[in-house]
Amino acid sequence: MGIRCVAIRACGGGKIDTGVPRMAVCPYGAAAVVMALLSAAIAFHCSPLLAVLQRALSLHTAHATKDMDNLFQLVRNIVPALTSKKHKGQDGRIGIVGGCQEGPPPACLSGADLTHVFCAREAAPVIKSYSPELIVHPVLDSSDAVEEVEKWLPRLHALVVGPGLGRDDLLLNNVRGILESTKARDIPVVIDADGLWLIAQRPALVHGYQKAVLTPNHVEFSRLWDAVLSSPMDTSNHSGSVLKLSQALGNITIVQKGEQDLISNGQQVLVCNQEGSSRRCGGQGDLLSGSLGVMAHWALRAGPEKTNGSSPLLVAAWGACTLTRECNHLAFQKYGRSTTTTDMIAEVGAAFSKLFTT
Ligand SMILES: *[C@@H]1O[C@H](CO)[C@@H](O)[C@H](O)[C@H]1NC(C)=O
Ligand SMILES: *[C@@H]1O[C@H](CO)[C@@H](O)[C@H](O)[C@H]1NC(C)=O
Ligand SMILES: *[C@@H]1O[C@H](CO)[C@@H](O)[C@H](O)[C@H]1NC(C)=O
Repeated sequence: MGIRCVAIRACGGGKIDTGVPRMAVCPYGAAAVVMALLSAAIAFHCSPLLAVLQRALSLHTAHATKDMDNLFQLVRNIVPALTSKKHKGQDGRIGIVGGCQEGPPPACLSGADLTHVFCAREAAPVIKSYSPELIVHPVLDSSDAVEEVEKWLPRLHALVVGPGLGRDDLLLNNVRGILESTKARDIPVVIDADGLWLIAQRPALVHGYQKAVLTPNHVEFSRLWDAVLSSPMDTSNHSGSVLKLSQALGNITIVQKGEQDLISNGQQVLVCNQEGSSRRCGGQGDLLSGSLGVMAHWALRAGPEKTNGSSPLLVAAWGACTLTRECNHLAFQKYGRSTTTTDMIAEVGAAFSKLFTT
């Protein structure tokens, strides 16, 4: 089982620049970093990420519909207020079950002990070398992986499963056990990438679990569809398909990533079409799953009063999609077709500082 790490994932521009740390992008690097950013920002007041978040969520509202305005307001409602009494981790200790890590993270992450990464042994040194702020548990390929992760579960507010995971049978079997435990403890879980491969093999793992969010792209979506529905998918009716898949999985929240993101909980379908860029970056999915992990926790803690009766996870998913698209948009304006995940994350930090000093 090798390190599930690719040296670079450019935005389709074919940019190859291996070996330079700045460019080393692993499948779940962005998720870890963005979660650490979101959590650390709040825990330490070290950075005005909240302000960035709020700015990202306020952009482009001028011509938005009333529904959009309402959604923006609902997301703002779930963002925790800053208080000086908070201690580290209170606003989101997130676990990632996945592959490997990118570097180096934004400076504001120094000292954050809020993101736990559960990975295979071989991936650990890479993660540690780039991001000492992340707590790395190299247990995923051990025979007692489930027990090792279970020790930490009571302290985690949400779990993101899948980025960079790979499809190794032993590993996926451990992940299956981890998902069972996560469900038993009622912890929100965001499942992406190879985690979705596992779900397509065993839909029962998440069926009806109301705190699960799946974030498939079109290929992953079709695979899930084939696993749980016998009728062919109506490819001309994307909203209807997302709604149906959610229902077939017991009304769990599904985010279908695409030109516009479609989000459903089996009852309604939200569209996220915040202006991003004409290209999706490979790591954009990691940013989405990472920020969704944090926002899912925030939304569930805030409760349905704060989301005006809407499903908290729908609001969280819409907020995370919107934020991710905005990061993509800002980075793409600077770097065009060669935009990388790293550029997108860097954009969050830059916008952050800019706001903080004005
Ligand atoms: C809250 O729900 C009420 C009733 O459905 C609606 O009129 C109002 O616009 C909603 N407010 C927000 C911020 O979504
Ligand atoms: C799309 O699918 C949904 C759910 O099955 C259905 O209610 C809707 O009428 C469909 N829309 C079109 C345009 O076929
Ligand atoms: C899912 O939601 C739909 C629409 O509200 C409802 O008809 C259906 O019974 C729900 N399914 C489950 C398993 O709760």
